[in-house]
Amino acid sequence: MFVQIDHVDKVFPLANGGKYVALKNIELEIHEGEFISLVGHSGCGKSTLLNMLAGLDRATAGGVILEGREITEPGPDRMVVFQNYSLLPWLSVRENIALAVDEVYSRRPQGERRSIIEHHIELVGLTHAAKKRPGELSGGMKQRVAIARALAIRPKLLLLDEPFGALDALTRGGLQEQLMHICEESGVTAVMVTHDVDEALLLSDRVVMLTNGPESQIG
Ligand SMILES: Nc1ncnc2c1ncn2[C@@H]1O[C@H](COP(=O)(O)OP(=O)(O)OP(=O)(O)O)[C@@H](O)[C@H]1O
Ligand SMILES: [Mg+2]
Repeated sequence: MFVQIDHVDKVFPLANGGKYVALKNIELEIHEGEFISLVGHSGCGKSTLLNMLAGLDRATAGGVILEGREITEPGPDRMVVFQNYSLLPWLSVRENIALAVDEVYSRRPQGERRSIIEHHIELVGLTHAAKKRPGELSGGMKQRVAIARALAIRPKLLLLDEPFGALDALTRGGLQEQLMHICEESGVTAVMVTHDVDEALLLSDRVVMLTNGPESQIG
């Protein structure tokens, strides 16, 4: 199995000394190349589960396994796209992508890195805006930079936390379609958190629903 979420519980300690059981006994298997959407009400634990896949947080019980190895920390084989883009405002589109590519592929020749960068700028249709900084871009364009940056690292697992949440319906529709094509083309395995059931149905091979917390489970 490509990814196995194996009997995962997540318990958060609370400031008053108590604890909050956010996730209880989550079991999920993800096949290579699959696109999974994670849906559920606000506060049910979607981001918590995604963070554990990213290695940003650990399970309290159970574990998350990627290609036979337990995920214990973040790594370039898993890239996360957040709702707020997280681009560096003083760098251009090209420089934002280059920063990630140069870091992860520091041993590859310069020419090869340049072509990876240009290919991914082109993939999301931003060649004309490659020199612009985030402040000069629309929300949808910033989101495309974030997606290009994530894909340029060629992750095994692409993790998206409400990537289109901040966008209007029209922009959203266009980007959803683009993401679908890019994922198909690159064969990347993706897990996307969304509030939007229509979006989940449109984009994914499988929709996974979390029940309301505490002790959220797969419903
Ligand atoms: N560090 C923390 N300490 C205590 N409780 C937490 C912590 N992080 C998350 N929680 C709780 O765990 C639950 C799940 O949070 P999570 O952010 O995963 O929800 P979500 O499904 O992503 O919600 P949304 O759709 O609003 O983003 C919430 O009830 C939240 O209050
Ligand atoms: Mg969330």
